[in-house]
Amino acid sequence: MIIGCTDLRKSYADNEVIKGISFEIEKGHIFGLLGPSGAGKTTLIKILTGQLAYESGSVTVMGKEPFRLSGKEKKNFGIMMDSFGLYERFTCGENLLVFADIYSVAHKRIKEVLREVGLEDAYNRPAADLSKGMRARLQLARAFMHSPKIIFLDEPTSGLDPQSMKAIHRMILDKKEEGCTVFLTTHNMEEAGRLCDKIILLNDGKVVEEGKPEEICRRYDHHKRIKMHLADGEDMEFERDEKYAERIFELLKLGMVETIHSTEPTLESVFLELTGRELEEER
Ligand SMILES: Nc1ncnc2c1ncn2[C@@H]1O[C@H](COP(=O)(O)OP(=O)(O)OP(=O)(O)O)[C@@H](O)[C@H]1O
Ligand SMILES: [Mg+2]
Repeated sequence: MIIGCTDLRKSYADNEVIKGISFEIEKGHIFGLLGPSGAGKTTLIKILTGQLAYESGSVTVMGKEPFRLSGKEKKNFGIMMDSFGLYERFTCGENLLVFADIYSVAHKRIKEVLREVGLEDAYNRPAADLSKGMRARLQLARAFMHSPKIIFLDEPTSGLDPQSMKAIHRMILDKKEEGCTVFLTTHNMEEAGRLCDKIILLNDGKVVEEGKPEEICRRYDHHKRIKMHLADGEDMEFERDEKYAERIFELLKLGMVETIHSTEPTLESVFLELTGRELEEER
């Protein structure tokens, strides 16, 4: 376990927003924290990265309470979140230069990391002139520049076009391949399903479900049926019972089956079932 918390609680004045949550994250995993607006995702990232105090419970990151980590230990973190803004009038190169000096990173790393995130041609472009997708890439470059071991990404693909989103997914998976642990928040269930080894669903400061995305979906498969669309246009549904195996096999053998699916729900509908809320509803 590289990150963990037990019965964590956090209030802003007398408003409790994290209401006793516990979870563990394995080293080298991509962990997804999902929840609608106001669920407490950003608050949790701030606590885990030592930017915010909490009232009770315990939190450990790399074996220590986050606020006890030394400056040097915190250099293992790469953080991308809204409150870590960019210098709008500085170019991409200049923006990274500022952080290279803070993190004692060799200046030659700047061009290298810009290439890593596909911004090699934007070295001299002011941050203010970047598209949304390019801004996200520059923020990632900043988070990745000092080769961190744990990467915290607060909604890294929020509001991006599908192509930029896909490129960022690739970068996140590359970081996992390099051995990094990634903690990511998102509203996007599909993104979580594609990237994450484990997720927790957070609603109103509480964990409502956790596990591997596909495991969670299977858990909520109330119908346990098999649906098929046949070549002649007919739709068929079978109970997932061995007494139908012969019939299904026969249709497959005859080449009649165009599509075949089990009926487990998507993460989105599991979330809706658990909370009565859609993830994107308040956006
Ligand atoms: N500095 C603050 N002072 C008071 N209340 C706050 C503060 N920051 C957050 N909150 C409240 O805490 C709750 C959780 O906020 P948080 O920003 O962690 O949610 P979130 O899940 O990140 O939402 P979003 O998806 O919109 O980013 C919200 O009700 C919010 O209004
Ligand atoms: Mg947030």
